[in-house]
Amino acid sequence: MRIFLIGYMGSGKSHLGWKLSNFLGVQFVDMDNYIEERNCKTIPQIFAEEGEAEFRKKERKALEELSEFTNIVIATGGGAPCFFDNIDLMNEAGKTIYLNIDPKILADRLMKSKTERPLIKGKSKTELVSFIDETLKKRNEFYKQAKFQITEPDISLDELKELIS
Ligand code: S3P
Repeated sequence: MRIFLIGYMGSGKSHLGWKLSNFLGVQFVDMDNYIEERNCKTIPQIFAEEGEAEFRKKERKALEELSEFTNIVIATGGGAPCFFDNIDLMNEAGKTIYLNIDPKILADRLMKSKTERPLIKGKSKTELVSFIDETLKKRNEFYKQAKFQITEPDISLDELKELIS
């Protein structure tokens, strides 16, 4: 059992992942936290000091390591499926679930979020909405390769378990 939650920033991967892991009685790992612990740096520090390309390499390495873990739910970073052949790796290693959430909801959540996200730092609501629209178009190519997709942010855990079993 190995489940990868994928989707845009603010789609609720960590929140749902944590709940789902408790429900299934398995371990939960948030990939961004894993990368931070492994590198002894926060995600914003990695972006600022080493750049996005280096971050993507560290993200890939984390994914390779986590793909060896069993009985686990993994909340991936929003960009993770969209670089290298990461989506293929995840599809081969486990069940992938795309949290496909309305861009307006994403923008609202991201405006309120306290998590520092280098890619959207300092953007106004209008800038954020167009950034989400632009990047989602490209990212959906990857996200939509997930084996399962949910569009309902408040899906019940029973329904989710049913969907992926
Ligand atoms: C990113 C999403 C972030 C984090 C990094 C880059 C992205 O994770 O990995 O800031 O490219 O969408 P969350 O989706 O958990 O915010």
